[in-house]
Amino acid sequence: MLTVKERIAKNILKFTVKLLSPRQVRVWQHRFWKSKQLLKEVQRMNNALIVYYSNTGNTEKVAFAIQRGLEKEGMEVTVKKVNEAIKEEFYNYDLVCFGSSVLHALPPPPVFKFIRKNDRRYRIADEVQVSSPKMVNKNALVFVTYSGPHCGVNEALPVGKYIRQFFEHLGFDVKDEWYEVGEFYNWELGNIKGRMGDIRGRPNEEDLALVELKTSQLARSLK
Ligand SMILES: Cc1cc2nc3c(=O)[nH]c(=O)nc-3n(C[C@H](O)[C@H](O)[C@H](O)COP(=O)(O)O)c2cc1C
Repeated sequence: MLTVKERIAKNILKFTVKLLSPRQVRVWQHRFWKSKQLLKEVQRMNNALIVYYSNTGNTEKVAFAIQRGLEKEGMEVTVKKVNEAIKEEFYNYDLVCFGSSVLHALPPPPVFKFIRKNDRRYRIADEVQVSSPKMVNKNALVFVTYSGPHCGVNEALPVGKYIRQFFEHLGFDVKDEWYEVGEFYNWELGNIKGRMGDIRGRPNEEDLALVELKTSQLARSLK
């Protein structure tokens, strides 16, 4: 419970923070603000952005399951495909979830393009700092769908790590990387005899229900 003085301070801060750029907020946070707790409360917007790339629909299914999980916990959620989100301001969200599939053990070209463009944009804006100090209340979640026909999840890890480091560069706290199995469309052998077993129809209802549950738990942990 805040005292009257703290409530007034909180409201003044709320207005001030709105006028500052994320970079200025970070400078404040590091130089002047001893108790980060109040600032954290002020900056909390209870919103999330989900950005994803999906060629055959698997990653999209996971993105929608994440959306359901977040909305269940009362978060306001915006969902966009990578090509719709190229100029999105990530700092406007408490939580940014980024999803991709795997193409020949690497991120697909639209994901590379998205990250390269945004990396350049945020570097020009001086948001990429040496040692990547964490921003208050800026969280990210990485999710990847893959088939792993040859060597399992190791085929997907470079994709997850590549996305993760991008958000870490911006000062986001990357809460997790989720690797979900997805059917490899039009490749019978890879779907039945691959390292992940019979993956036809995945992610299936059970997979998606689990994703939804994990997401709700994540959203609760941010409160
Ligand atoms: C041309 C092609 C190459 C792929 N390469 C890999 C790969 O190297 N490793 C892997 O685990 N999955 C690979 N996959 C499988 C996809 O990553 C997987 O099916 C994913 O769930 C597709 O997601 P999407 O439906 O959202 O596009 C490939 C799929 C295609 C069509």
